Amino acid sequence: MQEFRKAGVRARILMCAPDHFEVAYSINPWMHPDEWESRREELTGRSCDGWSLLRHRLEAIGAAIELVPPQPGLPDMVFTANAAVVLDGKALVATFRHAERQGETPHYRRAFEQLAARGILREVVDMPAGLTLEGAGDCVHDVTRDTFFLGYGFRSDREAAKVVAELTGEHVEPIELVDPRFYHMDTCLAPLSGGQVLYVPCAFSAEGRGRIAEIVGKDNLIEVPDEDAEKLAANLVNIGQDIVLAEASRAFKDMVGEHGYTVHEVPIRSFGLSGGSAFCLTLRLDRLSSRAIRQGLAEEKLAAVGD
Ligand code: ARG
Repeated sequence: MQEFRKAGVRARILMCAPDHFEVAYSINPWMHPDEWESRREELTGRSCDGWSLLRHRLEAIGAAIELVPPQPGLPDMVFTANAAVVLDGKALVATFRHAERQGETPHYRRAFEQLAARGILREVVDMPAGLTLEGAGDCVHDVTRDTFFLGYGFRSDREAAKVVAELTGEHVEPIELVDPRFYHMDTCLAPLSGGQVLYVPCAFSAEGRGRIAEIVGKDNLIEVPDEDAEKLAANLVNIGQDIVLAEASRAFKDMVGEHGYTVHEVPIRSFGLSGGSAFCLTLRLDRLSSRAIRQGLAEEKLAAVGD
């Protein structure tokens, strides 16, 4: 099987150190360069410490971390969720809406090619010219339903759905995002390993909410309380029963606790000043479709028979 199936590794995740992280421009309502400037030293320190604690917490729950080198002048490269859509070893390299982030694409591409050379990825694919898709940040995978939820309206193009569907064979559901605070799909929707889906209702139109309810089913759809949504709690990393996020209310922890999840809080609030949190700072490289999981199991069984 693939590299990432090594014993003990529960997830393989791409991160980018925050060496050049800052809020130097504003491309979403969370970003205020003046505020950053007035507390630059404090916030830079917090970001570096918080990022390291996130990395160590992910490692502690079984993740192997890969790193893409940070680049001066590209402060948002720290948000690797936006680097690509990755499934079954195929990486569809992101293209960005705003000029401020467009320089990230070639750096991510190089990193993915190096990961492919090491056998961690199988294939690196470019977006067709003229189409924008801001990676896993806007194209959130739900393995329970073999579905990608693609957010459009602020950053990614609705038409990118076809590209993802053709490459991965998964169902891709384009859903419009309507609240500028929740400008990427990963800020307002989080499928969990047990089949539950956390979501922020106000981020979607009535039609979008209806589609989500149809696909997920009412019993599995969990509303994120407003107070948590505003702290980007939906932007979480879920590995098995563990949930890693910046901060959550007692009500949120009890709510997911009832489904058997443990919440780990890490001090990464300074990234919220750029509109990002835990999920944004990570990119799963080992995500598999349920089809690939079944084939993998079949291969393992065959290998066992052959022994
Ligand atoms: N400042 C970044 C931007 O606006 C934050 C990106 C956060 N990433 C995410 N996947 N939501 O593009």
